[in-house]
Order: sequence, then C-alpha cells, then structure tokens
Amino acid sequence: MPAKLFTAGPVACYPEVLEEMGRQMFSHRSEEYHRLHRETVERLRWFLDTNHRVFLFPSSSTGIMEASIRNCVKKKLLCTVTGEFGERYVRVAEANGREVVVLQTEPGKPVLPDRLEEELRRHPDVEAVTVTYSETSLGLLNPLPELAGVVKEQGKLLLVDAVSALGGVEFSPERLGVDVCFAGSQKCLGLPPGMAVVSVSEEAMAKSREMANKGWYFDFERYDRSQQKDETPVTPPIPLILALNRILRMIEEKGKGRYFEEYAGRARRILRGVKDLGLTLFTEEKYASPTIFCLNAPPHLSGQEIYLRMRERGVELAQGYGRLRERTFRIGNMGYITLQDIEEMLGKLAEVLKTP
Ligand SMILES: Cc1ncc(COP(=O)(O)O)c(C=O)c1O
Repeated sequence: MPAKLFTAGPVACYPEVLEEMGRQMFSHRSEEYHRLHRETVERLRWFLDTNHRVFLFPSSSTGIMEASIRNCVKKKLLCTVTGEFGERYVRVAEANGREVVVLQTEPGKPVLPDRLEEELRRHPDVEAVTVTYSETSLGLLNPLPELAGVVKEQGKLLLVDAVSALGGVEFSPERLGVDVCFAGSQKCLGLPPGMAVVSVSEEAMAKSREMANKGWYFDFERYDRSQQKDETPVTPPIPLILALNRILRMIEEKGKGRYFEEYAGRARRILRGVKDLGLTLFTEEKYASPTIFCLNAPPHLSGQEIYLRMRERGVELAQGYGRLRERTFRIGNMGYITLQDIEEMLGKLAEVLKTP
C-alpha cells in the first residue's frame, strides 16, 4: 500500500485522530455523548465562523446534497455545473423529481457572476442555486463570494457543495450568505470517510418547515429537534465525531490563522514544484483549487502512467477523473500531509517524468 497519500479523498488522517478513534464506545443517549456532541457542534460553528445551525450527518456528502433538495426546493432550481460533482447535484435533484435549469461551463472554466445573473433573470422562478465551491474532478475553485452576491441579490437560496473546500479554504458560509453548506469527513478535515457536516441558515430552515414529502432520514427539522438535546435522530458515527472533535481541538490549539496559512503554504509549494517540472494546470491558475490540482499529462506519458508509476514509488496521487483519465492526473492537498512529504512526492514525480 502506498505510504503517502495525495489523493482526492479518502486522505491520510492525522495520527492523533486515528488514536482518538480507537477509544471504547459509549451510548449515544448518554451524558458522555451529549457532551461530545455539544462541544463538537460548538467547535464547528467556531471553525466555520457561523451562527447558523450546524448538523452532524451520518452519511457521506451526497446524502446532504439530497437533503438540501428535499428540504429547500419545492419545484425548480438552477444547478451550476463545472464538472462531475456539479453534474451529480443535477442528477440528485432530478431523481427527486425537481425541475433543473443547468448552467454548464466549458471544461476547466468557472461559473462567472455575469453569466449566473443572466441565467437567473431568464429563470426568475427558480427557488435555489447550487454551486460546487471546489470542483474536485477538475481542480477548479469557483468564485463563491461573487456568485453568492448574485444569488442573494436575486433572493434565492444558495446551496453549496464545499466537499473539497471546507477545512482547506477559509470562508464563513454565513458571511457569504450560503444557506446550506456541506462537506464530508474524508477530505480537507483529514478524517476517515463516513460522516458529513452541514451548516443551515434560518431561511433554509424556514423553507424546510414549509416542505411536504421531505422524507424522514434527511429532514433538517428532525435534526434541529434532536440537536436541542445534543443528539442526532439516528445512531451517530461516534468514532468519527470523536475524530472531528479532536481535529478541531488541534486547530484551536494551533490557531485558525496558522492552520489555514499552512494549508495555503502547502498549496503554494505543490504549485511551484509542478510548474518547475514543466507541468501545466488544466484550469486557469486564477481558478485553481488549492486543495486539489488537476494537471495536464505531458506528451510522452499518460495521466494513468504517471499515477501508476508514482504508486510503484509509494506515493498515491489521484487519477484523472472520468473522460480526463488519460489526459490528466491530480495531486490532492488535503488532510495529513507534511512539507517533507511534498518534497518527497515532487522528487519522485521528477523521476517519473524523466522516464520515457
Ligand atoms: C465536490 C464533491 N462533491 C461531492 C462528492 C461526493 O462525496 P461522497 O462520495 O462522499 O458522497 C465529492 C466526492 O469526492 C466531491 O469531491
């Protein structure tokens, strides 16, 4: 098994987190659990700089995608699509019987605010807009603050997939006006997979209260009622909540500013390193996600060959996604990665690129 992970998730976990997860279990209706739940939610609100409700979901991120549709959209929404995960939102909405207006960009291009404004003017009856903040499949960071401005000006709900952004890019969903913002445990927070977190605005809660047929498992109101008792409606993934609590405590001790500066420093080092090796980004640099880089394969090697040769050398990168499997490969910057790991990875990549 490769020793070093530069994957798109699951990513390498912090050793302290793995240690924490080995603790003996306790009942999810006990005082121990209530304390853990309360503290973790409070820490998450601090981390996200938000007064919005924050729920811990016993599902992967796609569960919250579905929940956001069922709780916040009665009939029609606009989905921005800049890659595979934007497209997943469309499929989830359609599978739930919603009408979707799709705003799709050219591969590698972000959604720009003017285009979104134009599309919203053309479809004034949409209730909500979805945005993929960091499109993991293409290493693309959409300009969320500007897009949020447009969505709020038009009075729509804003649903944001921040799966590969939250924890790696500093932002406050509340300050930006994001109504539903979610991510999974296995990305920038450096935890194992199996849980997702979501922040929900008052407007999104109000909409949820009006909704019929929102199902049982993903009903925000049900989560809200349980939260009053420092609980979740169903059995929560306690080891993952312990792990989340631990990473948030570690960030608190380090300082949020320093934590995000370290993330950004790692991204700068990877970007400089790959450029020095003569590689180019699939996206325009201005819109490159700092948590996952999608790189064009050079003429003499395919993305798959690079991925496989790096694996032989003990480093797992991420393969190019879907149709771009041969033309690209990706380098993740999420979870437990040290600067030393980056130097080693770049050294091995230099070796691989030299081989014919
Ligand atoms: C941007 C984005 N959205 C959604 C998902 C789906 O997450 P999950 O498979 O954990 O439900 C992923 C997973 O990689 C992702 O990167």
